[in-house]
Order: sequence, then C-alpha cells, then structure tokens
Amino acid sequence: MMEAANLLDLADDLDAVLADVWQRLGRAAKDRRAAMHTPVVATIAHDGAPSQRVMVLRAFDRATATLRFHTDSRAAKADQVGAGSPVSILGYDAGAKRQFRLTGTARVETDTPAADHAWAEATLFAKRCYLADPAPGTVSDVAVSGLAADIEGRKPEDEKEVAPGRPNFALLMAEVHTIEFLHLAHTGHRRAMFRKSADGAWQGQWLVP
Ligand SMILES: Cc1cc2nc3c(=O)[nH]c(=O)nc-3n(C[C@H](O)[C@H](O)[C@H](O)COP(=O)(O)O)c2cc1C
Repeated sequence: MMEAANLLDLADDLDAVLADVWQRLGRAAKDRRAAMHTPVVATIAHDGAPSQRVMVLRAFDRATATLRFHTDSRAAKADQVGAGSPVSILGYDAGAKRQFRLTGTARVETDTPAADHAWAEATLFAKRCYLADPAPGTVSDVAVSGLAADIEGRKPEDEKEVAPGRPNFALLMAEVHTIEFLHLAHTGHRRAMFRKSADGAWQGQWLVP
C-alpha cells in the first residue's frame, strides 16, 4: 500500500526525487527484501566488453554517495576494478516502478580497516564463501562448489575455520557520480538525471522519458 501511495504522490520536484533515491538506496542496503538489495553491477572487462553481475548491496553512505559490496579478491570483477575503474549499477524496484541507473568509480579494498571491519561483521556462513579453492571462475571437469568436502555441507564452527578466507575477502566500493532516475506511471513517466558537481552538491535536471 505504501508503494502504491508513493506512485501517485511523487511530486514533480527534483529535490523530492533525489530524496526518494537516497531513501531507497539506504533501505535497500538494510532490507533483504528491498528490490534494490540486489542490483546489477557492471564493469568493463580487459577486452573492453561490458560485464555484469548481481551483487548484494551491503551498505550505502549518503555523505559520500558510496555503495559497498563484498566480493572475492580473486574474482574477475575485482581484477577489472582494481584501484579505480568506471562502474555502472542498475536497480529496478518493480513495486514502485522505479529504475535507478548509477555511474561512478569503483575500487577494491582488501587490507583496509573498512575491509577488516566488514569481515568482522560477516556471518560464519558468509565467510565460508571465501574458502573456495581454487579461485572462483577456475574451470573444473566436474560440478563443484569450490569448498572442501569437510566444510561444504555445514556451518563453520568457529572463526578459526573461516580465517583462511580473509585474504580472499574484498570490498568493492562504488562512489556514485551520476544517478539517472526513471519512474513509470500511466499518468506520464518521469525521468531525471542528477550529477555530483566538483563541490559535492548534486545538480538535477529533467529528461524526456
Ligand atoms: C542474488 C545474487 C546475489 C549475489 N551476490 C553477490 C555478491 O554480493 N558478491 C559477489 O561477488 N557475487 C555475488 N553474486 C554472484 C555474482 O553475480 C557472480 O556470478 C560472481 O560473483 C562472479 O562474477 P565475476 O566473475 O564477474 O567476478 C550474486 C549472485 C546472485 C544471483
């Protein structure tokens, strides 16, 4: 019901639209059931081709407009992103009929205090993912999870068991520079573009949908 009310109530006001974006991103990071909890993150492969994958949005910092994702430091995307690369992030909230298309710069962090903190907060099950050996993406003759047989089907018992995964754990931090908003409505779609200017302020303009 809330979403339906929002649909009708979204004011033709760029500040209100941007506030809606911030609110939904903040909620998406916290609520597993939020549509934008699992956006598509696109990077550029070394041959120049676009490469996309679904990722779980772990945190959103409004002040720096930065999204935090977790990944394996050996994953293709981590290699593509490195210390700083263009990234595009796409979310669609079907209930609210809103698409967010973000662009920005991503970087991978493995041994920063922020990565240590995120690792400390992760569950044992989440940490288990980083025990894959060999690395994610390695070709295998048979169907595999990548996990050793003794840990594959169960929850790790303690931190000691998952500690070898820590070097493989990485943050993918995406600092957003532009936000394109699209809202579908029978009464007329709405589309807007927001850009972060050099002084950190966000400038918005309407686009024809
Ligand atoms: C619902 C869902 C959530 C996912 N979340 C993550 C995630 O948070 N981090 C991640 O590295 N991969 C996640 N994946 C797997 C990626 O989509 C992708 O298949 C994998 O990371 C390999 O990507 P790469 O080879 O481009 O690095 C998720 C997949 C699905 C379907």
